[in-house]
Amino acid sequence: MKILGISGSLRRDSYNTRLLGAAAGLVPEDVEFEFWGGLKEVPPYDEDDDTEEAPAAVAALREAIAGADAVLIATPEYNSSVPGQLKNAIDWVSRPLAMNPLRNKPVAVVGASTGAFGAVWSQAELRKVLAATGARVVEGEVAVGHAPTRFDEDGRLVDENLLEQLEEVVTSLIAVAVARCTSSEAPLASAA
Ligand SMILES: Cc1cc2nc3c(=O)[nH]c(=O)nc-3n(C[C@H](O)[C@H](O)[C@H](O)COP(=O)(O)O)c2cc1C
Repeated sequence: MKILGISGSLRRDSYNTRLLGAAAGLVPEDVEFEFWGGLKEVPPYDEDDDTEEAPAAVAALREAIAGADAVLIATPEYNSSVPGQLKNAIDWVSRPLAMNPLRNKPVAVVGASTGAFGAVWSQAELRKVLAATGARVVEGEVAVGHAPTRFDEDGRLVDENLLEQLEEVVTSLIAVAVARCTSSEAPLASAA
């Protein structure tokens, strides 16, 4: 069982990347958690470039998603919505729509912001976008508001309630991925 973690932030000290780090620490031993860090290399979507041979960063992202049993995305909020770089990457992955690697893939969304509400609007919009790609959006939300106060100086999430909520989301995501593979809809990536 493999979960792919994608942070929607390019920032070195990103709270969303730290949130993914916290999630990685919560998965059971038999679950692999892989970070995908190639977001900055994904070029702006151009339908003229969306040919059989995709740009390398796009091909790598498509492959990483296809090779995972589930995806966890931590998104910042920019002007009440999904940061452009993350939306752009999903637009690339979404094509061709009928056979894109997000189709039926269990995906959960969490988020952190320095504002009070923890990127809730961005998370809602991201879930809508993911549903449009055909992803199986897993219920559950973690909204890390006032992010600078929720992590210690080593970048660890220290808010017990948020850690509990994060564990619930991770557990649901794994459960949906396991149910999907036991219904033989998709073999476990780690078993393929
Ligand atoms: C262009 C821009 C727009 C932003 N808009 C919002 C916003 O709408 N709501 C919010 O809570 N924070 C907003 N912020 C602040 C982010 O929550 C903050 O920069 C956060 O640290 C980004 O996540 P990261 O730490 O993972 O990079 C914005 C920041 C930027 C740079």
